[in-house]
Amino acid sequence: MDHLPAHNSMYKAADYWDERYKKEENYEWLGDFSKFRHLLEKHMKKEDSILVLGCGNSGMSGEMYAAGYRSITNIDYSSVCIGAMSARHGDCPGMTWHQMDMRQLAFPDGSFDVVLEKATLDSMLVEEKCPWTVSPQTAGIIHRALKEISRVLKHGGRFLSITFAQPFFRKRLYAHSEYNWSIQHFTQGDFFHYFVFIMTKGEELSLEDAALERKLQEEAKAPPIEIIATPLEEDENFLDSIDLRDEP
Ligand SMILES: C[S@@+](CC[C@H](N)C(=O)[O-])C[C@H]1O[C@@H](n2cnc3c(N)ncnc32)[C@H](O)[C@@H]1O
Repeated sequence: MDHLPAHNSMYKAADYWDERYKKEENYEWLGDFSKFRHLLEKHMKKEDSILVLGCGNSGMSGEMYAAGYRSITNIDYSSVCIGAMSARHGDCPGMTWHQMDMRQLAFPDGSFDVVLEKATLDSMLVEEKCPWTVSPQTAGIIHRALKEISRVLKHGGRFLSITFAQPFFRKRLYAHSEYNWSIQHFTQGDFFHYFVFIMTKGEELSLEDAALERKLQEEAKAPPIEIIATPLEEDENFLDSIDLRDEP
């Protein structure tokens, strides 16, 4: 694989993705549409306006279009990716491609019924050594992205997030009443599990998730504890760098 970065931190850099997409035509992170279709279709109607974040060179949007979804807006901060993908899908009216940073979306409030991401937030978390204590810098980046996602969703709209991150870890990022959404999650896969999180705007957090938010707020006020980090392998599978132990 000649597109492997020298360091995992490069997965966070637009330049890395630009260089990679000059050579690579297609790569599917976590799995293609068919793998998650049975879950996504329950929360995404054919007539919905859909925003795909960090589309990459994945076949996901093309497969959704073939399945009958017609209003699909794709963004990625790699200009090379957007150039190649818009050329590849020139025969799909209703499907658009924009170079854009998901932390600063150029869409008005309440533009979309569905916002979808697959492995894009994961790529922003690559440098984290410890999944339950995200560094303040990364937490700030993720928070900006989540605030934008909530802003562009319609009332009743859904944020669909496909990730390798277990609920115990990912809910810590999503369970904030400020985003004004509820959280559900589903598990996919037999051997290696992936997770589909469904956030519905305008619904309250469950009692359990609201308690998690309060607990995190209390922890944030407490003095920091020292985290002993395990050295990371620098390879493509940055998923392995995350501790995947089951919830306690
Ligand atoms: C791990 S790849 C996932 C690609 C695709 N979603 C898939 O499932 O195969 C992450 C993608 O997110 C894009 N990306 C990362 N950070 C971004 C940001 N802040 N704004 C927009 N795109 C971003 C990268 O350029 C890359 O294409």
